[in-house]
Amino acid sequence: MNISTIVIPAAGFGTRFLPFTKTVPKELLPLINKPALQEVIEEGVRSDIKNFCIIISEEKQAIKNYFSHNKKLEAALSLTGKSALLDDINQLIDQCTFSYPLQREMKGLGHAILMAQDCVKEDFFGIMLPDDIIVDEQPCMQQLIEIAQREQAAVIAVMEVPQEEICAYGSIKIGTTLQDDLVEVVDIIEKPKPEEAFSNLAIIGRYVLPTAIFDAIKAITPQSSGEIQLTDAITHLAQNGHKVLAYKIKGKRFDIGRPAGWLAANVYLEARR
Ligand code: UTP
Repeated sequence: MNISTIVIPAAGFGTRFLPFTKTVPKELLPLINKPALQEVIEEGVRSDIKNFCIIISEEKQAIKNYFSHNKKLEAALSLTGKSALLDDINQLIDQCTFSYPLQREMKGLGHAILMAQDCVKEDFFGIMLPDDIIVDEQPCMQQLIEIAQREQAAVIAVMEVPQEEICAYGSIKIGTTLQDDLVEVVDIIEKPKPEEAFSNLAIIGRYVLPTAIFDAIKAITPQSSGEIQLTDAITHLAQNGHKVLAYKIKGKRFDIGRPAGWLAANVYLEARR
């Protein structure tokens, strides 16, 4: 199984970060010394991935600009001997290829992923949600890819959460247990009431999925809100002959889509430096 592309959905409005996100994509908010999205892409690069397909909206062209050379700025910095300030980002730009499919209407995560269909050339691909920062010795995405290759299966990242917090996540129904940290997924309920949750294993933002997910996204019924949920499409796969596994991540995870989580990630990363 060859996995060479990671899809990063980044088209959302980011309402929890208003008013900043009126003009600044939340994916470009700082994590210590770089935009959060750069940190996520670096996790992808450390997992041996070079192709990134970033789903954006018309309003989020700043993301495209960030991952492109700025010749005028580079010329000015070179005159003052400050070119090194752009070394890290320019190295990333030269090392990777980026594509930017547009999501024109915010119809949910599943719909955003569908926009990447033409970017994915192999049978399996990765998805990284830029809201999730996962700090671990081995990059989380690389762990998922290794398991997907070994098991020839889709793999989604999960973590144990207290019962009262499961309502913020997708909760998985566990089938066979393959290892302490690896289980089969047979069903998923999105944002359940605590008493309705299948388990306290919550889905977080790293996935390896087969391209069959695109047909699954087209096949499922949107929520009453009109949103097309990725978790519904993954359930559709699991219930239609695809092997879907959930891997309990080991690292520390921050939800930087919330201001408090973003602040906690900054404090933790600064202390770790
Ligand atoms: P969120 O649910 O966090 O939505 O999306 P959001 O718009 O980013 O933030 P809030 O909830 O309004 O504060 C999770 C990820 O999926 C992307 C988002 O950009 C984010 O990375 N997404 C979500 C899309 O790309 N398109 C969508 O239609 C919805």
